Amino acid sequence: MIVVSDPENISRAAALLAAGEVLAIPTETVYGLAANAFDESAVAKIFKIKGRPNNNPLIVHLCKFEQIAEVSTAFDSEKMRLQLEKLSQFWPGPLSVVIPKRSTIPDNVSAGLATVAVRIPGHSVALKLLQSCALPLAAPSANRSGYISPTSAQQVEDEIGDAVKLIIDGGACQVGIESTVLSLVTEQPTLLRPGAITIEQLSEVLDEQVAVYKQAKDSSVASPSPGLSYLHYAPITPLKFTEQIDFDKLPERSGLISFKPTQAELPTSISEQRCLSKSGNLDEVARRLFATLRELDQMQLNLIIIDNCPSDGLGKAIMDRLERATQRYQ
Ligand code: TXA
Ligand code: MG
Repeated sequence: MIVVSDPENISRAAALLAAGEVLAIPTETVYGLAANAFDESAVAKIFKIKGRPNNNPLIVHLCKFEQIAEVSTAFDSEKMRLQLEKLSQFWPGPLSVVIPKRSTIPDNVSAGLATVAVRIPGHSVALKLLQSCALPLAAPSANRSGYISPTSAQQVEDEIGDAVKLIIDGGACQVGIESTVLSLVTEQPTLLRPGAITIEQLSEVLDEQVAVYKQAKDSSVASPSPGLSYLHYAPITPLKFTEQIDFDKLPERSGLISFKPTQAELPTSISEQRCLSKSGNLDEVARRLFATLRELDQMQLNLIIIDNCPSDGLGKAIMDRLERATQRYQ
């Protein structure tokens, strides 16, 4: 059930979370499926609802910097405390940081890893709820495992509405793609997942070059971020990049998602067309990307074709998601 985020519903949600329930909450990136991060059986419900492999760890959401000490031993290290203090200028915001886990956090949150990912979300409703329940909240994106992350309360309702007690409406997500994930437990700070906070920003603030994690082709090599090895963000309808497509050979009922208005006359095989930004602005593209993929995925199209962009700045995060989403069909 979708509810407005008034004080009464925030208190009700906080009480449900304290009682071990799972709720959908808005964040500035995507909607999350939240449970008390200290409660192993509440966290187990998240995995069940999502159909999530149990080797894929969850991000723990906090409302203030000092709360890191409740879930992590990072402050025992002067070096790591300093790194976290520098990174805290991105909080509240779309950055998750992987640090050593404290034993207060059950193993299912971290999928058995000795680390935990934490972030302070930049959405006023998420922050109010975190403050009200005074608990760290484990929350993956509120979609079924492998599908596109939801960026509105209605998308959560449509996909998993039956499985959650409450969906708190916080409007459309302003960022639209999942947080940047940065590991501080590697020799050099390492970007595990690109997001709206870019590698350039991270390197500058840390005053240290951030490395980029490259997924090993050999699946026997343990991944530092197991979630990254899964097929992700993929619509059911085949998805391809516009530049790989011969327009004369498009199947009937194809959909086109462009990043800016298209000049060219389109073939009649394109029956649905969406433009994500009038000016090709990548913030806008990211904000509308997942909702548009979901919308076209419900139209029984034979193919969806989508633009690409240079893989730097926010473009790196957009292309990361789209390369995964198109992978299934290559
Ligand atoms: O923007 C976001 O991060 C959203 C909102 C709800 O906060 N959450 C989100 O969660 O995208 P999820 O579960 O869909 O993605 C979490 C990613 C996974 O790729 C996982 O592998 C990585 O974070 N991760 C979590 N804990 C980790 C850890 N201890 N070590 C390495 N990677 C970790
Ligand atoms: Mg996800």
